[in-house]
Amino acid sequence: MIKVSEYNKFLSYNKNKLFLEDIPLENLGEKFDTPLFCYSVSQIEHNFTELQKAFKKVKPLICYALKANFNSNIIKILSNLGCGIDVVSDGELQKSLKNGVDNQKIVFSGVGKTNKEIEIAIKKNIKQINVESIEELEEIAIICKRLNRTINICLRVNPDVDAKTHEKISTGRSEDKFGISDKKVLEIFKKFKSNKFIKIKGLSMHIGSQIVLLEPFSKAFRKIKLQILKLRREGFEVSSLDLGGGVGIKYNDKNKILDIKSYAQVIDELFSDLDLEIIIEPGRYLVGSSGIILSRVIRTKSGDNKDFVIIDAGMDNLIRPALYGAEHKIIPVKKKQTNLKSYDIVGPICETSDVFIKKMKIHRLNSDDLVVICSTGAYSSCMASQYNLRKPAKEIFIKKKKFTLSNN
Ligand code: LLP
Repeated sequence: MIKVSEYNKFLSYNKNKLFLEDIPLENLGEKFDTPLFCYSVSQIEHNFTELQKAFKKVKPLICYALKANFNSNIIKILSNLGCGIDVVSDGELQKSLKNGVDNQKIVFSGVGKTNKEIEIAIKKNIKQINVESIEELEEIAIICKRLNRTINICLRVNPDVDAKTHEKISTGRSEDKFGISDKKVLEIFKKFKSNKFIKIKGLSMHIGSQIVLLEPFSKAFRKIKLQILKLRREGFEVSSLDLGGGVGIKYNDKNKILDIKSYAQVIDELFSDLDLEIIIEPGRYLVGSSGIILSRVIRTKSGDNKDFVIIDAGMDNLIRPALYGAEHKIIPVKKKQTNLKSYDIVGPICETSDVFIKKMKIHRLNSDDLVVICSTGAYSSCMASQYNLRKPAKEIFIKKKKFTLSNN
């Protein structure tokens, strides 16, 4: 039994054919070239409302981390629901504004903002810049003075907590390049106390991505709470707290996930009595489950001890398996009544790491069969490359029976 709804509520088999919302994926495979990124709009809306509803006490401003997927449709869907955006570059900032996002719902994160990007953000009067070092803040102060403008700042603290996620997407340990050490925060508040261009409103943090345990979050949140109380005791007004993103999603049958209600409950319990504006920056949680890649089998190939299925999606479309060893569930578009076979499912790229899953059991596959790679709404199309000079895959947004092809 393949429980596809655990990956995407709007993905389902009907008479052995796979549908996304009310569209049979087989039809999309006939109409469009593969590989094709397909997104369920209802799943994105569902993810946003579930997250919002999970909070019972605080009402956080949800700022979608645009880096997860910068397609304009996603910006529009989410900002229509009241969502803000967390940007990390001028490109993301301009794209958000162009798609109608309220500048006062944009926060600017990132460890390497250039002075040019900082200047644009100040001129566009965004909500706040999350600052990663005293050096960055000093440069922001110089730019503000030159422009005679003020800007709201949150200091990104590095809480030195291990998010217990993949090594390459862990950001909250002291050895990581992100954030400011606990020990330096008070000194920075003191230094900029009477600077009339810089308004330090509070703190921010982000300890990593694809976090599937509650404990790292609660540990880091407790630490930042202590920091806030200490700053207040020293007489500083701390009115804003940005808790970052990081909530993980389901990628494969082995992968456990976090209950979003328990995540929200920790935030409610720790911060609801502190009279703080709470911001969160989820990326993957909002869009990851909504997307799939529709891909066609180029051919099968028998090796000495195993068989390969070569599909037309590759590491240029989805680099996560090659980069992080991520395993994304793969399912057939048409369920066949044959025995299960074991295959290595691989892409066509000339790299040994272009492998999606090794020793996967699936009904017999043949050339031209369609398969779906699940959970590719986040960090897939946005991390795509032109490696091997392959054409970029198209993206399609589906709502019930309607679909729109999107060129980003
Ligand atoms: N806020 C900040 C400051 C971030 O750096 C990130 C992600 C987020 C929010 C959103 O995190 P999320 O809720 O999506 O976990 N390419 C990797 C993920 C890199 C995440 C980078 N920062 C992957 O494919 O797993």
